[in-house]
Amino acid sequence: MYPILKAEKLADKIYLMEVKAPRVAKSCQPGEFVIVKIDEAGERIPLTICDYNREEGTITIVFQTVGASSEKMSHLQAGDSFHDFVGPLGNPSEFVKEDLEVLKNKKYLFVAGGVGTAPVYPQVKWLKEHGIDADVIVGAKTKDLLILEKEMEAVAGNLYVTTDDGSYVRKGMVTDVIKDLVQNQGKKYDVCVAIGPMIMMKFVCLLTKELEIPTIVSLNPIMVDGTGMCGACRVTVGGEVKFACVDGPEFDGHAVNFDEAMKRQQMYKTAEGRAILKLQE
Ligand code: NAD
Ligand code: FES
Repeated sequence: MYPILKAEKLADKIYLMEVKAPRVAKSCQPGEFVIVKIDEAGERIPLTICDYNREEGTITIVFQTVGASSEKMSHLQAGDSFHDFVGPLGNPSEFVKEDLEVLKNKKYLFVAGGVGTAPVYPQVKWLKEHGIDADVIVGAKTKDLLILEKEMEAVAGNLYVTTDDGSYVRKGMVTDVIKDLVQNQGKKYDVCVAIGPMIMMKFVCLLTKELEIPTIVSLNPIMVDGTGMCGACRVTVGGEVKFACVDGPEFDGHAVNFDEAMKRQQMYKTAEGRAILKLQE
């Protein structure tokens, strides 16, 4: 069992939990994820890791309620436990493996959308801990849905917040800020990392392709087993079939077939759609 040490509501339908999971905390790296189960018969829920504390043996997860399982999970409190907390799964972010001297000469731009701010945070934090200041754009629909602003401010070189409705800082989508930074302010970036809703990653990639900035995205398609066996998380990257759980979750954003990925995500929402996808696998 994996005890919940802290449970907090960050915004409407968005929750943060700190979980005691020493083995995961000992070895996890930015970019990786976990799969949790509330009870033995429960659904397996994949979640990106938002933070970790190796000394305390804790992992912080942030999630949005989207269905019955995550809704049930949102009712768990400090003192309750997860039945399963499997990880770290997937591959660490590319920069973790890169030579530090090479990395120090690269300018990173992180683009976080909504709940996607949670998996961006440990990446920016890791870079900061290694002496690298990255620029970070965080987009939220409204001020009330903005999460982890203070935490991000503490680790980002420059933080640019934007809201779709203009209720906080500036009005516009993350793509408006990228255009502003690159085209108006003349900023130059070697790498962009975009994490958020699929539609956001699609439009960020269309723009960064035009701006010639190599872009990494973290995909979160539907996952079932998390071991590359079931095919649920299938995505097409550069014309090749990849499984986000074992080949990703990070991919070259300019090579991802987002339209297919979004269609699959929609189809998974109905029993009929799931049956069709099963036949295709
Ligand atoms: P959201 O819909 O509130 O969007 C967040 C921001 O993305 C917006 O404020 C906007 O700036 C930008 N955006 C949205 N559509 C855009 C477009 N067409 N063009 C340019 N920018 C656009 O986000 P949310 O409701 O918090 O997101 C939830 C989604 O994020 C879920 O589908 C969830 O699965 C996904 N998510 C992904 C990851 C991941 O690892 N990729 C992690 C957590 C959540
Ligand atoms: Fe089953 Fe990736 S979740 S193959």
